[in-house]
Amino acid sequence: MLEEKIHVIDHPLAQSILTSLRDKNTDQITFRKGVVKVGRLMGYEIIRSMTHEEVIVETPLGVKARGIRIPDLDSIVIVNILRAAMPLVEGLLKAFPLARQGVMAVQRIEEKEGIENIKAVKYFAKMPVIAQDNTVIIADPMLATGSTIIEAIKEVRKAGSPKRLLVTSIISCEYGIKRVLEYDRKIELFTLAVDKELNSKGYIVPGLGDAGDRSFG
Ligand code: URA
Repeated sequence: MLEEKIHVIDHPLAQSILTSLRDKNTDQITFRKGVVKVGRLMGYEIIRSMTHEEVIVETPLGVKARGIRIPDLDSIVIVNILRAAMPLVEGLLKAFPLARQGVMAVQRIEEKEGIENIKAVKYFAKMPVIAQDNTVIIADPMLATGSTIIEAIKEVRKAGSPKRLLVTSIISCEYGIKRVLEYDRKIELFTLAVDKELNSKGYIVPGLGDAGDRSFG
C-alpha cells in the first residue's frame, strides 16, 4: 500500500469517539452525533495538510501581528454520498463552511455471497463545476470494497480536475484501499482506522456495523 497517501488520524478524541461508534451498545443519537464530531475533527486534520501563507494584520491596538492564511479553505467541494455520509458531511461543513457540495446516491447490490459479487450502482449524481484549484473531499464513512468510492471518483473526474482529491472514511479496510488506489493513484485517504478484514457480505471486521442504519435507525 502507498503509506504516504493514507493519513490515519490518531488524535485521542477522534479515537475515543471511534471506540464509541464501534460499540454495539451505542444508541442511534449518540452514534449520529459521534459521526458529526468525527467529520469536524477530520476536517481539522485535512486543514493541517494544507499549505498556508504568512500574513500581517493590524490588531485593534494599532499593532501589527504575524499570522497565517490558508487559501485552499475557500475552494473546497465536498461529495456527499447518500445516505450514510450525511452526518459526516455535517461535521466536515463545520470545518469548511464555505464548501460547495456534490451529491450522489449509490446503492449496494449483493447479487450473491462473496465480495467480488457486491456491486455499487449509481442512480443519481449532481456535481458542481470543479476547477483546477479546488480540493475535493469525497465523504463515505466506510471504505469497504471501494466500489462506491470508485463511482464517486468517476463523477468527480467527469466534473473537472481538482488540485487534490481526498477520501474521508471513518473506517477503511486494506482490500478497499488497494482497489481505490489501483483505480486512482492520485487520491489521498483520511481515516481513523484501517481494519484487516472484510466479510463475505462486504462488512468491515471488526468495523462498526452498517453506518447508515446506525445513524438513521
Ligand atoms: N458499509 C457499512 O455501513 N459498513 C460496513 O462495514 C461496510 C460497508
